[in-house]
Amino acid sequence: MDEEFPPSSPPTEDGTTNYLLLLVRLVLTFFFIPPTNVIGWVTLGVTVRIYNRLTCPHCRSKVSMKGKTVIITGANKGIGLETARDLARRGANVILACRNVISGNMARDDILSTATGKVEVHEIDVSSMASVRKFAKNFQNRKVDVLINNAGVADIPQEITDEGLELTVATNHLGHFLLTHLLMPNLKEASGRILHLTSIGHTWVKNVKELDLENDMKFQYNRPLKTLEIYAATKLFNVLFSNELCRKLQGTGVTSNSVHPGVVDTDIFIPMNSRVWYGFFIKLFVSAYAKSPAEGAQTTIHVAVSEDLKGVSGKYFQDCKEATPSALALDEGLAKKVWEMSERLVQLQPQERTI
Ligand SMILES: NC(=O)c1ccc[n+]([C@@H]2O[C@H](COP(=O)([O-])OP(=O)(O)OC[C@H]3O[C@@H](n4cnc5c(N)ncnc54)[C@H](OP(=O)(O)O)[C@@H]3O)[C@@H](O)[C@H]2O)c1
Repeated sequence: MDEEFPPSSPPTEDGTTNYLLLLVRLVLTFFFIPPTNVIGWVTLGVTVRIYNRLTCPHCRSKVSMKGKTVIITGANKGIGLETARDLARRGANVILACRNVISGNMARDDILSTATGKVEVHEIDVSSMASVRKFAKNFQNRKVDVLINNAGVADIPQEITDEGLELTVATNHLGHFLLTHLLMPNLKEASGRILHLTSIGHTWVKNVKELDLENDMKFQYNRPLKTLEIYAATKLFNVLFSNELCRKLQGTGVTSNSVHPGVVDTDIFIPMNSRVWYGFFIKLFVSAYAKSPAEGAQTTIHVAVSEDLKGVSGKYFQDCKEATPSALALDEGLAKKVWEMSERLVQLQPQERTI
């Protein structure tokens, strides 16, 4: 198609320039007509990237974490790795709780090339309650100042684990529910902080039926599930758990808050088993328009270290400030129901009832 570029401003009947029409032609030329559309999308991507760089809120606190122990699940890459890097630079003893120890060791070496803190790698598969119990045994009699429940999966095929749990629910919620119980004595000793990595995606759940509570959160409907449907439910469980935990921990000095990191350029949204071109397209789109992992870690770091947040509990944070989660996330009755169901699903033992 022979296109005039730049398009001339079409005159109106009275001879004046029709600027609206000109704008429409410019937009069409820049975004939809090859080859100029490539320049259009790249320019937009670069502009958004620069805008993100300039406006992304950062944790302003310079507080040292010397002598503090921080456990971060899923810390071998993405937001968890960048959180660990920052906390190690502040002098914390950082525990990288990873399912892939080789990748964890590489992350530790990478962190220690720029930080002086102590970094340990411990194996945990948060989707396996047996693995979570084994992990926690290594921490008996050890004070824990901060627990960051960060590990997560998103667009993975539905699967039931050997323990009879739905895999995304077990990874994103149940493993962390159990881990928090098992580490509670350690956290109480330090008046520690607990953080739960949730997502704005929790707002996609519009009613309780979507949480599949009657079916033990196994999401085995007689219909194909929409992409990310289970992910959204688990991210709602994160906020409900955090809020109920806050209510139950009143007077102990231990705090519990949830964090939405923003849309971050990590591997989490590249669907497993997707076609290569589809994964490539998503990666390209996300890397142009999303926060970098270091930017995405800022709210977590802020909530983990900021002196201003000492004693603050039961809140939801994004962009380094308090925000409001969905109405369902604030439903106390629902939080209690999900808590009781989670206790049953992880088969919480009498000696594990620490909260
Ligand atoms: N990226 C975003 O835009 C975004 C937005 C909102 C919320 N979040 C939340 O942020 C958190 C971190 O995500 P991310 O974006 O940093 O993703 P990521 O780069 O994919 O990192 C996820 C981490 O979780 C670990 N993990 C997954 N399953 C595990 C299991 N069963 N046991 C132990 N570790 C496991 C992964 O380990 P492997 O390397 O072994 O897979 C990896 O270290 C997640 O909870 C996510 O829901 C992210």
